Amino acid sequence: MDPLTALGVALAAAHFGMPLAYYAVAKRWLKTPWRVKLDPAYAPTVTVVIPTYNEARHIEEKLEDVYRQDYPRDKLEIIVVDSASTDGTAEKARWWAAAHPDADVKVVEEPQRRGKNAALNATLAMARGEVFVITDADCRWPQKDALRRAVSWLADPTVGAVTCLKKPAADGPAGVEAGYRDHYNVLRLAESKKWATPIFHGELAAYKTELLRKIGGFPLDTGADDSYTATQIALTGYRALAAEDLWCVEAVPRSDYHRWRIRRAKFVIQHFLKTPASKAPPPMRPILLAEKYIHLANPWLLPAAAVALAAAATPHALVLLAAGAAALALKPYRTWVAAQLYLMVAAVGNLRDKELVWEKQDK
Ligand code: GDD
Ligand code: MN
Repeated sequence: MDPLTALGVALAAAHFGMPLAYYAVAKRWLKTPWRVKLDPAYAPTVTVVIPTYNEARHIEEKLEDVYRQDYPRDKLEIIVVDSASTDGTAEKARWWAAAHPDADVKVVEEPQRRGKNAALNATLAMARGEVFVITDADCRWPQKDALRRAVSWLADPTVGAVTCLKKPAADGPAGVEAGYRDHYNVLRLAESKKWATPIFHGELAAYKTELLRKIGGFPLDTGADDSYTATQIALTGYRALAAEDLWCVEAVPRSDYHRWRIRRAKFVIQHFLKTPASKAPPPMRPILLAEKYIHLANPWLLPAAAVALAAAATPHALVLLAAGAAALALKPYRTWVAAQLYLMVAAVGNLRDKELVWEKQDK
């Protein structure tokens, strides 16, 4: 084999091999015990924060969603923090609050929009809950006891933050089982069992308020408010977990899907660029190293392999290149390649605009 073909093969092997190897390791972590003492009776005060920018379509239903939770009402504070919406979101929230005097609902109105993280910081300063929960306006909690479940994990003094798992898009017969088989959830759970997962979900992210304050709140230069703060908490020695009994359903935009994927990829990249693996407690280090590599470096090996093979132009190289293209007919492979493209476009896009204040995609 000529050197260029060999290089192309090596790059492709690394690109596909490293994530597969990590996945194999993760499967082993998944078999280990949690080492967490759950306490279903633990009922601290909780502040649920709903950040909004032009969520008039969703805000009432979201408030109902939180209100429906079977959590003790006297221990639950709900804060809607609105950043100068132009569609009447704040009015709707205030109206809802007035109609539900039995719920402790506060509506904070920022005079101008400075982004989700600045808004979250404003609420962190005033929250009375021992636990601080973020939930996006455009998502729903399918479980009535979501808060109780989230909090039961935080009862363990070693746990600092908890998030949900994402329900697979198509509802299978056995939810949790189907979820376990889902590649993404396997990684989140495995990392959580090992120590902490560096990827949290804005649908439901719960933190010990004290720890959130200790790390200085939400970052103003990074988009991934949920993942970044959870990881910072993990770096200070606490565990940040995706809980196996906590599910959320993701709201996917009806239009502008690619832009949405790219923006989210931008935020994940900003998060991993800013998070040093060297500062992590030993069990967290391999997790961060692997995820940083997979999100920051690994995508680029794919076009590099393609270029090397195309430049080699040997029969071997061309057959491999054609096989790589033909494999796009397979859904998992296509999904993977698309994710690599989003990450690369996002990395380049980040150089120009971090999109910390973003355009709303309709969901
Ligand atoms: N107060 C306030 N101010 N809220 C905002 C602002 C703002 O400037 N911008 C967005 N939000 C609110 C939205 O109204 C929504 O409730 C939530 O923040 C998430 O925003 P979406 O527009 O729905 O973005 P997404 O679906 O891509 O959000 C996801 O990615 C973000 C970045 O990682 C979610 O996972 C978010 O939780 C996550 O922060
Ligand atoms: Mn959303």
